[in-house]
Amino acid sequence: MLFIDKLYETNSLDRNELKELIEANIYTPEDRLFYAARRTRERYYGRSVYFRGLIEFSNYCKNNCYYCGIRRNNKKIHRYRLTKEEILDCCAKGYELGFRTFVLQGGEDPYYTDEMIVDIIESIREKFPDCAITLSIGERPYDSYRRFWDAGADRYLLRHETANEVHYRKLHPSVMTLKSRKECLYNLKEIGFQVGAGFMVGSPYQTIDNLVEDLLFLKELEPHMVGIGPFIPHKDTIFRDEKGGDVDMTLLMLALIRLLLPKALIPSTTALGTVDPLGREKGFAAGANVVMPNLSPQKFRADYSLYDNKICTGLEAAESVEELKQKIEAIGFIPDMSRGDHIGFYLQKRQNSIDIN
Ligand code: 5AD
Repeated sequence: MLFIDKLYETNSLDRNELKELIEANIYTPEDRLFYAARRTRERYYGRSVYFRGLIEFSNYCKNNCYYCGIRRNNKKIHRYRLTKEEILDCCAKGYELGFRTFVLQGGEDPYYTDEMIVDIIESIREKFPDCAITLSIGERPYDSYRRFWDAGADRYLLRHETANEVHYRKLHPSVMTLKSRKECLYNLKEIGFQVGAGFMVGSPYQTIDNLVEDLLFLKELEPHMVGIGPFIPHKDTIFRDEKGGDVDMTLLMLALIRLLLPKALIPSTTALGTVDPLGREKGFAAGANVVMPNLSPQKFRADYSLYDNKICTGLEAAESVEELKQKIEAIGFIPDMSRGDHIGFYLQKRQNSIDIN
């Protein structure tokens, strides 16, 4: 029905076909669409679910995104920053627990100069040479990204948030532009990072056409990772009274992204787990294959409040990794604590070594 076979076979659809699929939004996990998404995920990654240790190292942010709880103008939150030593402690704890990917995420915090970030990356590289380092610290100039890459960072997460100019304007103050965001993503790719993009589902003013544009943009960018989750209002933002994103629509987007980008690494996000107690499991059933437990110091976890009621004490806590693994096994997936690189990365590396020899 409705282009699902075509999507499964060709991993692409045009604007109108995508729109029709989304407008229908009548799918259940037993449907062909989710079945096709799971089959597609298994083609490259089997039933593995990859683990990443998330270190939220600063909730200071110079940006004022209308949806985000750590926006600059929110005077109500307690701000914190981790020192290099504290970040290394988080990595050490994570390493003990078995993590081999560390995601350093923060607001856009100019306190951390390029030199400091480079120093942090080099220290992690030296102490944990077998681990992947992922950065998620927003927009920086090309040269900064290159320095982070040269220092040993492997991956970079930067959600595009929405691929439509008009919609982007409704979510961000005018000093932020979609053009600059896209430029960053293309720069990161060119440098060699495994790159992650993504967006919120059900953010204020989002239309179905916007979602179609998001999917088409992802197809064009071909990121290695895609992070999506439902929009959830935050009480200290101007979107406090807006409606939150829909779980079923988020699952539909996960499945479509899996089918459009079969090799992508796609997390079942904390936001999805926040709006639905079974959200994380439903995400895997829709084609997601990554989970990012929280490794930040416990005393700061509640301060990294991007949205209301963000879960941080249950199975998304890195301390509960064994329980989370059991849950994942119970629903038929295989927890995988290895670096879990994008499949194309290995091919690229092999290609490089052939070139060298
Ligand atoms: N609801 C859901 N997701 C949010 N993010 C920020 N604020 C919210 C919110 N209110 C997401 C953004 C950002 C990521 C770190 O968190 O997409 O890129």
